[in-house]
Amino acid sequence: MIVGQAPAKVILTGEHFVVHGQPALAAAVNLYSKATVRPGVYGIVQISSPELGVKRSYPTRLINTVPSSTHDDSALEPLRLLVGKVLEEAGETDIGLDLEIISQIPVGVGLGSSASTAVSTTAALAEFLNLHFEKNDILKIASVQEKHVHKKPSGIDASTITYGGVLCFRVGEQPIRLQSNDQMSIVIGNTGSSRSTGVLVTNVSKRVAVGDKELTRINESAGNLTLQAVQAYKERDFDRLGQLMCANHELLMQIGVSTTELDTLVEAAMSAGAFGAKLTGAGGGGCMIALSRPEDRTRIADAISSNGGSAYLVELDTLGVRICEDQTDMH
Ligand code: PMV
Repeated sequence: MIVGQAPAKVILTGEHFVVHGQPALAAAVNLYSKATVRPGVYGIVQISSPELGVKRSYPTRLINTVPSSTHDDSALEPLRLLVGKVLEEAGETDIGLDLEIISQIPVGVGLGSSASTAVSTTAALAEFLNLHFEKNDILKIASVQEKHVHKKPSGIDASTITYGGVLCFRVGEQPIRLQSNDQMSIVIGNTGSSRSTGVLVTNVSKRVAVGDKELTRINESAGNLTLQAVQAYKERDFDRLGQLMCANHELLMQIGVSTTELDTLVEAAMSAGAFGAKLTGAGGGGCMIALSRPEDRTRIADAISSNGGSAYLVELDTLGVRICEDQTDMH
C-alpha cells in the first residue's frame, strides 16, 4: 500500500489577476488530501471517495476512453483521466489497482481541494508504479486534472501544493520559493457556500478579452501590489503585508468576486486585530483568510465563528507533496 499526501493552499495576494499575467503570492497550509493505492483485481482500476460517497471500477485497458455513465460518478471523471495518464506514462495496460481518496480540505471553497487530490494521487500512483517522479513530473501530470476541472487554470494551486511553503508565482515562469516564516499565523474563514472557480474565472476573463479599461487598470495595480507583498513578506513586515492584503480585497470587490458574507468575515477579522484579511481563491463564496499574530489567532477565529463562518487555524506546510510514512487515517 502506498499513501501520497498533499496540502491545501491559500492565496495571500493576486488571485484572478494571476490568470492574466500578474504575479501572485500563495502559501501551502496544513489541511491534507491523502491518496491510497493498493494492488487490485487484475485488469481493473477501482477509484473511490468515501466522503463523496462514490466508487467506480473501470477496465484498465479502457480507462482513457470510458466516460462517466451517471451523474453520481461524474465527480470521479477528473481522477479517471489522471489515473489514465499515469498508467500511460508507466506503459501499464492490464494492472489492477484500488485508489481511495480521503481529504480534510473542504471542496469548492478556494483552498485547492481538487489540485491537492490530483497531486496526492499522482504522487501515490507514480510511487506504486516505480516511476521515480520528481516534484516537477508530479506537477506536470496533475495539471491535466486541473485543466479538466478549471478549464484555464493559472497553475498556482497545483504548484503551491506540489512544492509547499510560500511561493511567488507567475504564469510561464519557474515559481520563486520564499523562505518560510513561523511568525506568521493564518486563520481561514469559510462562508460555507461553494461555487465554481471555472465560472468566476471565465466571467473576469470575458471582461479582459473585450479590453475593459477599468479591469486592465485594476489588473496592473494588483500586479504591483503582489510585488510589494513579496517584499513585505521577505522583510517580515506583517503590518505592511496585512495592509496590502486588505487593499487586494478591495480590488477583488471592484471586479465583483466578493460577497456580503466574505466582506462580513473580513471586517470581523480586522476588528478582532488581524494584520490584514481578504477573500482567498476565486471568491463568489468560499473562504477568506486573515493574517494574524500567533497570540491573536483564537480571538480572530472566534470573531469569524460568531459572524457565521467556520474558522480553521492553520500552519504553513513547508514540504508540499510527499509519500506518507504514517499511514494511519486522518479522521
Ligand atoms: O481554485 P481556487 O478557487 O482556489 O482559485 C484559484 C485562483 C484563481 O486565480 C481564481 C484561478 C487560477 O487558476 O489562478
